[in-house]
Amino acid sequence: MRTKLIAGNWKMNLSRVESVTLAGEILHHTPAMTQAQVLLIPAFVHIDAVAQTIGKSHLLLGAQDVYFERSGAFTGEVSTEMLLELGVSHVLIGHSERRHVIGETDAMLNKKLLAATSEKLVGIYCVGETLQERNSGKAAEVILHQLQAGLANLSHDVIAQGHLVIAYEPVWAIGTGQTATPDHAQETHAFIRSRLAEIISPDLAEQIRIQYGGSVKKANAAELLAKPDIDGLLVGGASLIVEEFVGIIKAAELK
Ligand code: 13P
Repeated sequence: MRTKLIAGNWKMNLSRVESVTLAGEILHHTPAMTQAQVLLIPAFVHIDAVAQTIGKSHLLLGAQDVYFERSGAFTGEVSTEMLLELGVSHVLIGHSERRHVIGETDAMLNKKLLAATSEKLVGIYCVGETLQERNSGKAAEVILHQLQAGLANLSHDVIAQGHLVIAYEPVWAIGTGQTATPDHAQETHAFIRSRLAEIISPDLAEQIRIQYGGSVKKANAAELLAKPDIDGLLVGGASLIVEEFVGIIKAAELK
């Protein structure tokens, strides 16, 4: 039984006051969570303020990125230890905006995932094809390569402890309003799980949660979550709107 993970990736949005207000509202509207875990992922500079707002509640705190070195002359970067100090438990690694806008490579992402998971953070490793890759029939090949490169040398122990989550976010569905259909998402998630069975092991592949992301909203959350291999949602735009995000959380709670 894989516990659903609903995450709100706030990206580079919201002021400090807006971040605190949103976190407070989500906390207020989701009192007794039993079926799903809820994760808020604010911008780095607001993590501390959001941490104070949610306190020791059922809400979990995540970061949008992390660097792989422990400390030193890496201007602008943030270490796993710094995140842990703030109460962060989860970190996104290889979000498509980091891959395609910032230009992060598979080799860097692998180092980040190894660093994060060895420090007991849960690494949410994001994969997904671009529109061009999809149209040229290369989606499966691209996703397989991202999995092989990103998960190289990851210890089975950290996976068994639940420190690896995969997020499938087709780039063409992010912020476009064009959600993958539940059937298409399920098909890709099943493909990802079958590849995880080969790359890691069949037993561990059954334990790894695979989130879907890309234009998720209250209106389509339940049908996505009804699919057997969709173990949660990684939400962008709709996670900034209380009513939308609370609706998505409630859809997971009903599962
Ligand atoms: P949207 O939900 O805005 O499409 O963003 C998805 C995403 O990138 C979450 O990480």
